[in-house]
Amino acid sequence: MPARTATTPLVDPFQRAISYLRVSVTDRCDFRCTYCMAEHMTFLPKRELLTLEELDRLCTTFIRMGVEKLRITGGEPLVRKGIMTFFEAMSRHLESGALKELTLTTNGSQLARFAKDLAALGVRRVNVSLDTLDAEKFARITRWGRLPQVMGGIEAARSAGLRVKINAVALKGFNDDELLGLAEWCAKEDHDLTWIEVMPMGEMGEELRLDQYWPLKDLRARLAERYTLTDLAERTGGPARYVRLEETGQKIGFITPLTHNFCESCNRVRVTCTGELYMCLGQEDMADLRAPLRASDADALLEDAIRAAIARKPKGHDFDYSRQKVAGQVSRHMSHTGG
Ligand code: GTP
Ligand code: 5AD
Ligand code: SF4
Repeated sequence: MPARTATTPLVDPFQRAISYLRVSVTDRCDFRCTYCMAEHMTFLPKRELLTLEELDRLCTTFIRMGVEKLRITGGEPLVRKGIMTFFEAMSRHLESGALKELTLTTNGSQLARFAKDLAALGVRRVNVSLDTLDAEKFARITRWGRLPQVMGGIEAARSAGLRVKINAVALKGFNDDELLGLAEWCAKEDHDLTWIEVMPMGEMGEELRLDQYWPLKDLRARLAERYTLTDLAERTGGPARYVRLEETGQKIGFITPLTHNFCESCNRVRVTCTGELYMCLGQEDMADLRAPLRASDADALLEDAIRAAIARKPKGHDFDYSRQKVAGQVSRHMSHTGG
């Protein structure tokens, strides 16, 4: 066996190299999107959270082990106190060249405050979750969110020079009537757009989940009635597959865990704000990294725990709605791992 060093890349049992880490820095959020959270969520006590210094050590270890893309998520990452200090710390890995991309997924509510600082720290693009352009529907789906605040955030991001990608969860009976409206708005504003199939996470009732599921195959077919679609080979390192709408030149992404499983090319793992490492979004198995992190100041225990966990990364999720039943559901809410 070759000598193991900290730079041996992370490769899972299915020969997938792990180069993308998603880190949820808080389980809290200032919205309560109906498909993501219960209205009355119990959040973790603050003492359970990794400190920003511990998150730094954790991410730095992953980067040393081959992670090149770091996405900060939540809950809503920008509600974590002192979060800019953390982005500032991570920006040193961009400067050194070890990290190719530092980015975040956000609901946009705090971007007006932070967009400039994020851009100054080397963030180039942000993914903003936005399922509707209708203020009343927006308030309904997010329960606590207000559309003008998010629009202001998106505008601030653009002014700061950040590229914006809009993430819309495809929900039948909710935003299927906005397929063209969202595309046109994104073309006008020069934002990218990605549609996501709704996944069975959290405890929403089976019937409600099936009722709201809008397969992206249907969405794509409807889009093709209006536009000429060209499949693109281009990848961002995330799970989306992109098409170009020839009439407008814009790019639209599809994230299709249900209709087209993309697990064979999975390159990512997730860490929660308490240091749980989830090897797959769609499975319950996880490894505790907080204990090895706190057990010693050296990183050897942590690295061993990470390698042991990657060695049991599963082949993929078991989400399936095809028999008019929800299969493969996981009990955790999406906000736990940040998507
Ligand atoms: P890009 O860098 O823009 O490609 O980002 P991304 O798609 O990796 O990240 P984003 O946070 O925008 O992800 C959008 C959503 O896609 C997530 O919130 C999840 O709902 C879904 N998603 C991302 N990664 C996975 C994955 O590994 N498995 C599954 N099933 N869904 C995923
Ligand atoms: N299925 C698919 N996407 C979801 N998101 C939240 N819950 C779900 C779900 N059950 C999305 C959010 C956001 C990202 C973090 O995950 O809308 O874009
Ligand atoms: Fe990777 Fe699991 Fe997502 Fe599949 S469901 S792409 S294996 S994280």
